[in-house]
Amino acid sequence: MTAHPQPVSGAPGEHARALSEILAARIRANGPMSFAEFMRECLYHFAHGYYSRPSARHFGDYYTSVDVHPVFGRLLARQLAEMWELLGSPRPFVVAESAAGVGRLAGHILDFSARALPAFYAALEYVAVELSGARRAEHATHLAAHAAAGRASSAAEIPRAISTGCIFSNELLDALPAHRVVIEHGALREICVGFDGGQFIEMREKPSTPALERYFQEQGIHLDEGQQAEVCLEACDWIESAGRALERGFVLTIDYGHEARILYDERHNRGTLLAYRDHTVTERVLDAPGEQDLTSHVNFTAMDLWGRRAGLTRTGLVTQSQFLVALGRGSEFAELYEPGQTEMEKLRARLLLKNLIHPEGLGEKFQVLIQHKGIAAPKLTGLSGY
Ligand SMILES: C[S@@+](CC[C@H](N)C(=O)[O-])C[C@H]1O[C@@H](n2cnc3c(N)ncnc32)[C@H](O)[C@@H]1O
Repeated sequence: MTAHPQPVSGAPGEHARALSEILAARIRANGPMSFAEFMRECLYHFAHGYYSRPSARHFGDYYTSVDVHPVFGRLLARQLAEMWELLGSPRPFVVAESAAGVGRLAGHILDFSARALPAFYAALEYVAVELSGARRAEHATHLAAHAAAGRASSAAEIPRAISTGCIFSNELLDALPAHRVVIEHGALREICVGFDGGQFIEMREKPSTPALERYFQEQGIHLDEGQQAEVCLEACDWIESAGRALERGFVLTIDYGHEARILYDERHNRGTLLAYRDHTVTERVLDAPGEQDLTSHVNFTAMDLWGRRAGLTRTGLVTQSQFLVALGRGSEFAELYEPGQTEMEKLRARLLLKNLIHPEGLGEKFQVLIQHKGIAAPKLTGLSGY
């Protein structure tokens, strides 16, 4: 996501007021809640959660690679088609896109595949997986033609068993609820959420689960005195269950984040948790529950480790820039253009591409992790640039 650092100014609206009352009542009854629980309600509360409501205002808060230009989806389609070939061109080939949002990326991938990769398209069973019912409801518009052709469907969860395919996500894991921790007097404490009668406040508590200590021990991570960090146990669970669902194929994850040794180093000693609202970014994560997006960076080392538990092997980790450039090089980025475009329109498309691959844009902020299962050391074009 791209945003401009300024203070959040908007007053809380009706959803924030309603959700604040619900969360404050819960804290009064049960004591401080973990930040993961607070974040889950802020993003996914059935009525007031940021992602549970129709998507209309989200463009006002952030944009993703999908919104920049369809070339993002078209190059992804090339990578998916290559995976399918490496797996022996099976029919069906299941592509489960988790966090499909309103289905825009799915539309870009399917439209391009139908037009430019007909054999792949004919084998494709694309499942657009989206937790939010409000967003899932929009798949009917974006994916109508492909659903009618029997190539696409919608679901709230990844299929339980995928015999051959690819499970992929763009900006899912950064949006999963994370716990917050801090080292105090040499011991791990959890930063929970309390309520002082007027506002939500941070409270330092005994860890709510032993899994937090274990997480750092298992990865050999040492945090310094006073250092704050996030632990996304849900992301660990997600990658492990994705690995278990898949018999043969790939898991492809696009998100911002780092390997553990960077994510938990002194540059990130306040953690990476941020709130996005109206194209502004702040650390005021307790403000306006349900009305701002909350994210934390992905720990790709943990995704590797938890993936291994389900039989996934790391194929490679590259920046989005390396990934897209490697995939577009062969065709000189012909995927950028529509038939009959003027030179001016082509120039504009090239400028948009720059945003996707430029280090100052989304290109270096985002990483692409690919893991494989049931296939030996596959060579993928998207990873060839590293
Ligand atoms: C940051 S948005 C990204 C949306 C889209 N991939 C894009 O790039 O525009 C995160 C999305 O993940 C969805 N989500 C969260 N948890 C999920 C889960 N367990 N399964 C499927 N979708 C989920 C949210 O509802 C939200 O639509």
